[in-house]
Amino acid sequence: MSNVAENSYLIEDWTDYDKSSLYNLSTKYYSERACDSFLNQADTIVLPNVVTSAYVHAHILAKFLAANLSRIPANKKLRVLEFGSGSGLFARHFLLAAAELNYLDRLEFLVSDISDLFLIQMKERGVFEGFTEGKHYQLVNLNLLDLDSAKTVTGEHIDLNDLDLVVSNYVLNALPMIPVRLAAEGSFEKLQVKITGPELPKEVDLVNNLNFFSSLKIEERWVDYDIESVSDIEKKYFEIFKKHLNTLAPGTAGRFSYKALEAMDKIHSKLSEFGMFYLADIPSWGPNAFKFYSFYTNALANLISENLVIDFASSLGMKILKQKDQNLFRILFYKSENTFEPLKTSFNKDLVFSNKVNLFKKITDLLKNIDDVALLDVYKTLLDKLLALDNKSVTSLVFQGDYYYLAGDSKTALDFYKKAQSIDFCNHHPDLDSKIKMIFI
Ligand SMILES: C[S@@+](CC[C@H](N)C(=O)[O-])C[C@H]1O[C@@H](n2cnc3c(N)ncnc32)[C@H](O)[C@@H]1O
Repeated sequence: MSNVAENSYLIEDWTDYDKSSLYNLSTKYYSERACDSFLNQADTIVLPNVVTSAYVHAHILAKFLAANLSRIPANKKLRVLEFGSGSGLFARHFLLAAAELNYLDRLEFLVSDISDLFLIQMKERGVFEGFTEGKHYQLVNLNLLDLDSAKTVTGEHIDLNDLDLVVSNYVLNALPMIPVRLAAEGSFEKLQVKITGPELPKEVDLVNNLNFFSSLKIEERWVDYDIESVSDIEKKYFEIFKKHLNTLAPGTAGRFSYKALEAMDKIHSKLSEFGMFYLADIPSWGPNAFKFYSFYTNALANLISENLVIDFASSLGMKILKQKDQNLFRILFYKSENTFEPLKTSFNKDLVFSNKVNLFKKITDLLKNIDDVALLDVYKTLLDKLLALDNKSVTSLVFQGDYYYLAGDSKTALDFYKKAQSIDFCNHHPDLDSKIKMIFI
């Protein structure tokens, strides 16, 4: 690394994109900042976490499992594994939804992350209070690239076979990916990057300087991608990628997410007879159509091409349900000979015919803008619609508090704010303190 111009350092000379230090820096950022990675400090970004950790989202997934119950032996434990659980909020909400749907006592939810700090924080902050560790849930340290190395927090090996549902809420994008395009005469080219920036990564405080990634200058070039000399994993999945590449406009590069395909392959081998794999990730169309990656503060997200993962799952013989909106694409892969109608009906009802997660987001956006008592009746109508989707999360408690505050009933408002504060594990509502203080004045 050297000083290439005043206040500008060469952080990394030309390197294959999938081996660049962006990947290590991003992993370091997650492991050191843990749950606080999701504090929405840059107001311009809607973090996918807001959507994936919403109660309504977990409730919809819990209903998919309920829809599949008739195919699972009645005496079998229902094993759910979530990768990269992050804050643990999705898992908490799934457990609450399982209780609502009356199968909590059959459930064994494996909450996992590659970073211990996330797991430690879940424990410290009491995210699973009211549920029993070792019965309803288990905290697991797990790198999704190495399913056989899964360990409980006390270091015991845990076997991950026989999974009825595996959930990946925008985690596959954290894995290495290489953009590859067709060059002249049937050969291929890969992307390399050269990175310069205002500070050397060794000196930068990634946890507090949230603008570090966006301050980098990243140059790109294309060089020969010689399939004979690439890794075994790339070789293994190149054929399926090549087919995908052929479906793109000539000259367009594809996102070769070979590590995500490897992870999916392993997940598939761990599923129970009618097991399901739910994948939610960042959309790679619209504003992202010509991008390979994006930054969420100092986290790197390698965009995944939905069609590539769908083609891959089809090649494994899995059935597919899919839906996308501006925040996420969602795919439910499930093992089955034929389309399983109850699952299809459940998926379509909650995500396609009416997108309940989007509806939740729209209602909260509307409620945030109502602060006039003359609109109290409008507030109440919207609040009732919100509570029909979610009457359990911190968000729903805060809006209930706001409603009573607007209605002039400070005492009830205070009760809701205090309840909300006790379950605001990730400080998603930093203004709760001032709301409570305002009432005491
Ligand atoms: C973008 S966050 C998503 C967190 C959470 N699922 C959510 O929806 O809010 C990615 C998470 O994946 C974890 N992660 C990154 N690489 C991983 C890997 N190889 N195996 C397992 N987890 C990983 C990170 O520590 C982080 O918690």
